[in-house]
Amino acid sequence: MAVKRPRLKVGVLISGRGSNLQALIDAAADPAYPAEIVTVISNVPGAKGLERAARAGIAGRTIDHRGFPGREDFEAELTRALEEAKVELVCQAGFMRIVTAGFAARWHDRMINIHPSLLPLFPGLNTHARALAAGVKLAGCSVHFVREAVDQGPIIGQAAVPVLPGDTPETLASRVLEAEHRLYPLCLRLVAEGRVRVTGEVASIDGGDAVQSMLINPPPH
Ligand code: GRF
Repeated sequence: MAVKRPRLKVGVLISGRGSNLQALIDAAADPAYPAEIVTVISNVPGAKGLERAARAGIAGRTIDHRGFPGREDFEAELTRALEEAKVELVCQAGFMRIVTAGFAARWHDRMINIHPSLLPLFPGLNTHARALAAGVKLAGCSVHFVREAVDQGPIIGQAAVPVLPGDTPETLASRVLEAEHRLYPLCLRLVAEGRVRVTGEVASIDGGDAVQSMLINPPPH
């Protein structure tokens, strides 16, 4: 009989709405999913995502960055809370803080993020407006390991969606967001199953066919 691996203990960092957190909560509600969310931490008091955590019975807390003299002090408290919850992997889900080299190093290959563009294009803010201004015909989202540089780091998975005539940053954002909600649980599963290997700064997926971390929405016919 195969020995069942314990579920990977995940801490989710948020700053707001938490719809990606919800997608992870929903995936982890299945006992067969290889990861469980043990804590949710928001740097913004009253973030809507904290209500989602509470509804799911997950311990949530606020660590307000404004209460600390510097970035390092804030991050030391984050790490303390994550360690206290015995977190093995950190998922940033709409976490709007730039991290220092020290925090990125502490969680090297143990912290992932979702960004609403096909990286390395359009890192940072206002991604959808920039994608539209550039006239790209495919947009999408990426899940990647976090490094010190914003929205950089080995790419675990990507989902592509079409840019349609008449799109605004808002309509494009909502099409990409739907893809995010499918991609993030898929990538977390791959990491939790121990199937993601980082060589140099390239992540590759072990086992199965080659397209497991790639989603195209709508799928090609
Ligand atoms: C998402 O688009 C995510 O990719 C970006 O911030 C947004 C957060 O949305 N990093 P939500 O809080 O998960 O609803």
